[in-house]
Amino acid sequence: MTPMFQQFHAAKEAHPGMVVFFQNGEFYELFEDDAVLCHRVLGLTLTKREETPMAGFPLAKLDHHLRQMLAAGHRVAVVEQTEPPGDGKKIIRREVTRVVTLGTVTEDELLDPRKPNHLSAVVRDRPGVYGLAWLDLTAGTFHAVDVTEARLADECSHIAAAECLLPEDQVEDLQPRLPAVRSFTTRPAWTFDATTAVGALYTHFQVSTLSGFGFQDNQPCLRAAGGLLHYLQEVMKANLGHIRRLTPRRPDDVLTLDETTRRSLELTRTLKDNLRDGSFLSIIDRTVTPMGARFLHEAILAPLRHRTAIEARHDAVDELLREHTLRGSVRELLDATSDLHRLTTRASTARATPKDLGGIARTLRLLPKVKAKITGRHAALLQELETRLELVPDVRDLLDKALVDDPPYGAKEGGIIREGYDPTLDNLRNLSREGKDWIARYQAEEVARTGISSLKVGYTEVMGYFIEVTNANEGRVPSDYLHERTLKGGKRYVTPQLKEYEEKVLTAQDKSRALELELFLRMRDAVAAQTERLLQTADVLSTLDFLGGLAELAAARNFIRPVLTDEPILDIRDGRHPVLDQTLPPGMLVPNDTRLSETDGTFWLITGPNMAGKSTFIRQTALLVLLAQIGSFVPAKTATIGLVDRIFTRVGASDELSRGLSTFMVEMTEAANILNNATPRSLVILDEIGRGTSTYDGLALAWAITEHLHEVVSCRVLFATHYHELAGLAESLTKLRNYNVRVQELENDIVFLHKIEQGNAGKSYGIHVARLAGVPAPVLARAEEVLASLENRITEPTAIPIAPQVITPPEKPRRKAKPVPSAPSLFGGEE
Ligand SMILES: Nc1ncnc2c1ncn2[C@@H]1O[C@H](COP(=O)(O)OP(=O)(O)OP(=O)(O)O)[C@@H](O)[C@H]1O
Ligand SMILES: [Mg+2]
Repeated sequence: MTPMFQQFHAAKEAHPGMVVFFQNGEFYELFEDDAVLCHRVLGLTLTKREETPMAGFPLAKLDHHLRQMLAAGHRVAVVEQTEPPGDGKKIIRREVTRVVTLGTVTEDELLDPRKPNHLSAVVRDRPGVYGLAWLDLTAGTFHAVDVTEARLADECSHIAAAECLLPEDQVEDLQPRLPAVRSFTTRPAWTFDATTAVGALYTHFQVSTLSGFGFQDNQPCLRAAGGLLHYLQEVMKANLGHIRRLTPRRPDDVLTLDETTRRSLELTRTLKDNLRDGSFLSIIDRTVTPMGARFLHEAILAPLRHRTAIEARHDAVDELLREHTLRGSVRELLDATSDLHRLTTRASTARATPKDLGGIARTLRLLPKVKAKITGRHAALLQELETRLELVPDVRDLLDKALVDDPPYGAKEGGIIREGYDPTLDNLRNLSREGKDWIARYQAEEVARTGISSLKVGYTEVMGYFIEVTNANEGRVPSDYLHERTLKGGKRYVTPQLKEYEEKVLTAQDKSRALELELFLRMRDAVAAQTERLLQTADVLSTLDFLGGLAELAAARNFIRPVLTDEPILDIRDGRHPVLDQTLPPGMLVPNDTRLSETDGTFWLITGPNMAGKSTFIRQTALLVLLAQIGSFVPAKTATIGLVDRIFTRVGASDELSRGLSTFMVEMTEAANILNNATPRSLVILDEIGRGTSTYDGLALAWAITEHLHEVVSCRVLFATHYHELAGLAESLTKLRNYNVRVQELENDIVFLHKIEQGNAGKSYGIHVARLAGVPAPVLARAEEVLASLENRITEPTAIPIAPQVITPPEKPRRKAKPVPSAPSLFGGEE
């Protein structure tokens, strides 16, 4: 094996499961299986050298290909040459300089800066008990919690980690339990071993117990946290000083949204294209910084549950809404800041470039103005932000003095340090500048001395400085010129004098670059030492941007402040669907009321034709509750929101095919989740239940589910359905009310009014919608015939292939107090 291959294999061994990008001169090369993989993922040409598959790409394509590898779920170790190429005899030293994985990237080029990026770890401690830990490397936040089997999948989907670590001996058990996780990384089991893992935490935090952080030292989640830290140290190859604490997450702090609900309400991604654009998040995002956008993203996935915390946000939004000049200037300042979270993290993990420090400097310069703006505010949250906003003047001073105005990306070529900061550097720079002047003068003198007006002093990397004379003038070359090289049209010469000055210029330049690098690294360390204060300030900026964005949204879309209560009610007048409100032409949206209470019923059963607006209405209610609980104002005339502990949704199953489950199975799994986990404080949104099976089966299930939610769970429910038969339940279920969406029947047509009103629709207009959809006339006519005969209950229709049956009443549900009122009928109310 060649020495280069030995280097390659050493890197592979040290980074199991990763693809190795191996620098060889001007290219990154890939070998063996990696080459085959990258041929597939990156579309690189596959070649062979002595039977070894190979592929490669130019250095400049690195970021581009790293992004592609991450998107395809791979992890990459980048091996680079860490010394200049020598004479070709000696093997060049190479090292793994970067390990890039989905959960640990901090480079903006590789990430959507508006999205939080989490790395998580899961271990099974004993049957039914799991430990969970997760970390946002950018913000330096690190959490852990113990969960039961029932909560595991939801908690993980909540965290939405880009990368999830599993102990290798538990992969088979854990992976199927975590359907929402996209990318797993298998880790040695010993890194999660209780003693090792907790020991790693002790060492990192320099403590001898984690009780100070609110944990007991034998908690399962500490195994996950320690294993995660171990991985991170390995991957980052850097001090993780910015991770200062481990925080227990109390699950009852936040409103829980399961994976299905997040997806079906399109909270952060659209169902159809899985894009941020068009999602609820993108519609309400008015933040001006990536820090604020990430805050909003997290807030939507973890709305608050406690009144005081939510009202604190409402107060702040209220003040920023009213004081629009203040809002405008704060947002303008924020807009000029850089991503302080990410830049600080890069500084503290020794990855920041001079340009990154420039970004920090620019942001720090703006802080006094931001602080001045939010001084003396009424809202307690704004006051708190003002107090917590650290100006970090020491770092600002240092950067202002030492760093040039527009620093470069690279740290090796100089041009980083400001003139006048370091006397030694200034001297070296003068020397090299003087040297250059000297060379200009020298050329003029030589032209005069030799009389060769075309004589030039030039420079190349290989030759250094030289004098070039054309062939025509060769006769006039003085004897002290030493011939070095012959070109097509002339010759190149050097003189001892020229070489002497060259030495002076080049050494001065080398020395000044080396010194600049050293000064830069020192400056970066000084910034890294203030990580905690910088991150705290970044937190303040992101919160401020979040609140300012909500105020801007409220102003732009005419949102109002919701009143919060702990009663399990909802009273929304003239509520508007937040997405349709912005996407429909003005005046087209029909506002609707939601009134759930003891008197108005807490279970609304909504019927109405297809296309009437049932789904829109029930989702609108869920989204308004969610908006209120993240601290936002809401699109309505008035709103009283009884705080919700969880929102559950079960909606149309057409988009679930990718999960590899049959439509009906998905539907029932989701129903089971709701029935098992909803509490009296939950809000349940059901959009059709039981449609994926035979009519009677489906109706029977919908019926039983309705009774259970009403009688046993007793939570707030909005249920949109085409089973008009369920309407009869209103007679026995005291909190159930029938609502329908109004349509106007014209002669041969119907007009959708999109208005929710009390009462049962009793009729479906399905054939009408089929006509709108372009179903051929003969089929429609036949359908009319079949419908008529079904409705007339022809028991044995000669030419009709469907035999309608009379349904027998379902058995009395066991746990129910009330009897089933009457036999449900497929032909709603026409008995
Ligand atoms: N309140 C409203 N104001 C204006 N347009 C609305 C309103 N509600 C719904 N719409 C429009 O009607 C369309 C259909 O609404 P929606 O999907 O809610 O109907 P649906 O009753 O659930 O139909 P289906 O029974 O077929 O599921 C929406 O895409 C929207 O464009
Ligand atoms: Mg619908």
